[in-house]
Amino acid sequence: MGAPTNGTAAPPPVPGGAVRWGIVGPGHIAGVFAQGLRLARGGTLHAVASRDPARAAAFAAEHGAARRHGSYDDLIADPEVDAVYVATPHAHHAAPTVAALRAGKPVLCEKPLGIDPATTEQMLAASADSGTFLMEALWSRFLPAYVALRDELAAHTIGRPEHVEAELGFRASYDAGHRLFDPALGGGATLDIGVYPLQLAMLVLGPVEDVTASGSLAPTGVDASVVAELRHAGGTTSRVVASLTEDLPGTAQVLGTHGRLELPGPMYAPQALRVLTTAASPDGPEIVSDTTLAAPFEGGMQFQVEHVHACLAQGLRESPVMPHAVTRHLASVMAQVRRQLGAV
Ligand SMILES: NC(=O)c1ccc[n+]([C@@H]2O[C@H](COP(=O)([O-])OP(=O)(O)OC[C@H]3O[C@@H](n4cnc5c(N)ncnc54)[C@H](OP(=O)(O)O)[C@@H]3O)[C@@H](O)[C@H]2O)c1
Repeated sequence: MGAPTNGTAAPPPVPGGAVRWGIVGPGHIAGVFAQGLRLARGGTLHAVASRDPARAAAFAAEHGAARRHGSYDDLIADPEVDAVYVATPHAHHAAPTVAALRAGKPVLCEKPLGIDPATTEQMLAASADSGTFLMEALWSRFLPAYVALRDELAAHTIGRPEHVEAELGFRASYDAGHRLFDPALGGGATLDIGVYPLQLAMLVLGPVEDVTASGSLAPTGVDASVVAELRHAGGTTSRVVASLTEDLPGTAQVLGTHGRLELPGPMYAPQALRVLTTAASPDGPEIVSDTTLAAPFEGGMQFQVEHVHACLAQGLRESPVMPHAVTRHLASVMAQVRRQLGAV
């Protein structure tokens, strides 16, 4: 994939063929991605790379990858790998992503794309310079409930959205060396789980103009919990909670002028969307309809994977559903949140 493009002109990596994926970093989420690939149309798991050859071999055997590599660079150089999924801890997303893009390999990189705005910008620049597809793996956006949510917003079913409430939290046992708490691995609630409610607020209400955040820090100095109140363009508002210290129901709500949309927990992978419409009555808003949309599904990653396949088949450099501008804005908002908390 050679000449730089402005977003639509790169040739598909495998015209007419199934995309042969290579996974970098065979940890927890890489296994979930491998399951998603099995459920998705248009691609196969072909190769896996670990810093430890034995781990690569074990993952390849478990998930049926034909090739395994003992270094990330070897997988990126493998001519049989068409696209790369980066599943390392946040602080280690940039190096393999940039290397793969420079080699002309499309990349799906786990969230958050970069650990800060500057790193994110370098990664997006590598996509722009090489004319190669890059997407931050915010898989929620491709799930049936999120597709239904976008459709309901476009149809103005609940009128004008005015406020979003979204929370995500689980009690993680504290381990200073774990990627959730280790600053060197990009630890903290905002980057790990806050990204989900934040991207939902932006999806519904658009860019954030003002951030007010408070919360608590873990002993390592990363943010353990955060409450962020955001003002969006046009004066709408959202309230986002992310916690590594509390088990929260993980629900989300969009409040509109004529009803509300509800995502059940966990809001990063909801199985359904509840749509309630209201009308004014002397006693206040009255519910006039209550519908549940979107069928339950197995897995979940397959929707994101099929979206990437469609983007590649069309020669796109970025996803229209998770575009680079949203990734860039998310990185900026997360940096503001973390700065206000004084997080490392
Ligand atoms: N989409 C989702 O729902 C979801 C859920 C969980 C996590 N994630 C994202 O996925 C990424 C990985 O999370 P995970 O929970 O899968 O992590 P994990 O289980 O700890 O695995 C990460 C892998 O990265 C590799 N790695 C490279 N450098 C490393 C280093 N310095 N320290 C530790 N591991 C290193 C390791 O593979 P080798 O040593 O074998 O090379 C390891 O297996 C994170 O960015 C996270 O935000 C997404």
